[in-house]
Order: sequence, then structure tokens, then C-alpha cells
Amino acid sequence: MKKINIAIDGPSGAGKSTLAKRMASEFGYIYVDTGGMYRAIGLYVLRQGISIGENQRVKDCLKDINIDIKYISGSQHIFLNGEDVSDLIRTEEISKYASFVSAIPTVRQFLLDLQRALACENNVIMDGRDIGTVILPEASVKIFLTASAEKRAGRRYEELREKGQNVTFESVLENIRQRDKNDSERAIAPLKPADDAITVDTSDINLEESAALLKKVILEKMSNV
Ligand code: DC
Repeated sequence: MKKINIAIDGPSGAGKSTLAKRMASEFGYIYVDTGGMYRAIGLYVLRQGISIGENQRVKDCLKDINIDIKYISGSQHIFLNGEDVSDLIRTEEISKYASFVSAIPTVRQFLLDLQRALACENNVIMDGRDIGTVILPEASVKIFLTASAEKRAGRRYEELREKGQNVTFESVLENIRQRDKNDSERAIAPLKPADDAITVDTSDINLEESAALLKKVILEKMSNV
């Protein structure tokens, strides 16, 4: 039976993963965090001592990378060559590396099959940047989740501070702006809404309101397909 696929794309810090996880548990679907896959590759590359900009070295090491996703007590864990790296990949340094490796076409191709296979075998809510445009162009529902750069940076800053990371608001905002630029200006699979995506802007609404709005939009769209 054909599986139901919901694509949620948007810039960093728009609340995609929190909201996609919520929607996945409400609908009983599997949540797939594609950013985590790029982050795991970023971590591998960093550990190899590869610098940002050394594209060829990244391509050369892909053959040594195995990314796997497992669901433990309902939550998604990302494995890099058998090691659970789910927590290690949530740092600002890895954000930069993930953005760097994600602009390399061979890296995107490398992850495409894995992402499509998950969507083919399961009902999924998949979040990323190019899910509605490239990975799952036939998805039943496509959402473009966005918010202003300042609001996104504010939320990310709070999150990092809660985790005990020593960052300033300005550095987080700068990081977000740089990633927006990298993600939307790259030649391959740039961040942009699919033609048939529904845009949901969470700048002026809180998490509960965003979740309620998103659920309403998804249900409305599903009742029309
Ligand atoms: O969603 P995130 O912040 O964890 O994503 C990390 C990086 O990976 C981000 O810079 C954009 C990139 N990415 C991408 O290019 N395509 C995706 N489908 C998901 C993430």
C-alpha cells in the first residue's frame, strides 16, 4: 500500500523538528530528521580533520560512512558507523559542518536513497530543506515552516543556553543568517518552498499555537487528497 508522506521544509530554527516530532506522534507516523543525517556526516568530516571548503576530501571519505536511523522508545537516533551520535551532532560547530557538506552534490546523492527508502516503507513526516522539492515531490502534504531570523535565533539561543552551551545571541543570529544564505543560495537543492507547499509562519505564535495551526493545515490538506 502506498505510504503517506508529509514533507516539512524550512530554514534553521523555525521549529521544524519539534513540530514534526509532535505531528508524527499525533498521526502515528515515523519522524525522519534529514538534517541529522547531514550533521552526522559533518561530524565524521570534522573528526577526520577536514576543513570547510575541502570538498574533494569529503567526497573521498563517503565510502567509509554508514548512516543508520533507529527508533528507540519511539524517538529517532542517528548512528554513524554504529555509534549513536544523536547528542554529539547538536552543536554550533557541527551546524556549520552540516551546512558545508550539504552543499556538495555527491553528499546529497549519498543520502537521497536512504531518505526515499524510509518514505517508501513507512508513513513519514520528514523534515529538511529539499523534501518537498527534490526528495519526495509526490508527498501528500508539503509544508514550508518559517519564522523571522531574529525569532529563530532567539529560540535557538534559549535552547543552547539550557543545554549549558556558552553562546551569545549575536553569534547564534550570525550563524543562522550564514546558514540561511548557504542553504538558499547553493546551486543544488536550495532551500525554497515547493510550488505546492503551504507556508506556515511561526514568528508571532508560540509552540502550542504553531502545533495547532500545523495540525489543522495538515488535516485540511489530507482531506482534499
Ligand atoms: O535542520 P538542521 O539544522 O539539522 O540541518 C543541518 C544542515 O543540513 C543545514 O545547514 C541544512 C542542511 N540540510 C539540507 O541541506 N537538506 C536537508 N534535507 C536537511 C538539512
